[in-house]
Amino acid sequence: MKKLMAANWKMYKTWDDARATAQSLADLTASKLPDDREVLIFPPFTALKGVSDVFGPLAGFSTGGQDFYTEAEGAFTGEISPAMLLDAGAAYGLTGHSERRHVLGEDDALVGRKTAYGLVSGLKVILCVGEKIDERRAGQVEAVLRRQLDVGLKDVPRDVNPADLSVAYEPVWAIGTGEVAGPGEIVEAHACIRKILQAEFGEKGNKIRILYGGSVKPANCAEIIALDNVDGVLVGGASLLSESFSQIVLA
Ligand code: 13P
Repeated sequence: MKKLMAANWKMYKTWDDARATAQSLADLTASKLPDDREVLIFPPFTALKGVSDVFGPLAGFSTGGQDFYTEAEGAFTGEISPAMLLDAGAAYGLTGHSERRHVLGEDDALVGRKTAYGLVSGLKVILCVGEKIDERRAGQVEAVLRRQLDVGLKDVPRDVNPADLSVAYEPVWAIGTGEVAGPGEIVEAHACIRKILQAEFGEKGNKIRILYGGSVKPANCAEIIALDNVDGVLVGGASLLSESFSQIVLA
């Protein structure tokens, strides 16, 4: 299973800045990318085609959409469909990011519909899960992960290709705070997610990648990526500059 080194650029970067950063990242990493690593960037929608074109000729580099709606087309002002993401060169789609859940108000059921719809539409999907700090303090980490995964994966076809589905564990309290989860906390949460994936998908559950996200930096990436059941990282702030994200990609 290749490790997936993913960048979520959130609502940052214009077309020119996005393309320049992607080109610089490619220059810094493409010739050195180990066979067992893949690079993925989630640019804002307006720069998706530009970054996809930069990555087009490069093996092991791809792009994705940070969100999408559950219809192919229609009167849904402001929304974007998986087919449109694919048309802009994306291979991946993100669902359930904590900012969509907790800032934009998406619930588990909508996240589940998006996850299933993205997969049947031909996207590879990364479903994000993770507890808030009060839920961790109340000893509810496993319960939260179980609920988010039960509902989030409910309508995913059981014959899904495991290479098309990933789960990102992003504890809400570690996102953008500089407060990275400790190795013990990451290993425990990822083991819990693996157990749930095995229960849902059988043997195939071992082949679904589990990414960690939350204050990943060049200084802590090598340690995190080596932990049990960590099959990649999803990076926000430290992915915005090619110098720092290239160090993470090659860590
Ligand atoms: P930071 O790396 O900035 O903590 O963000 C993580 C994240 O939300 C990635 O999706």
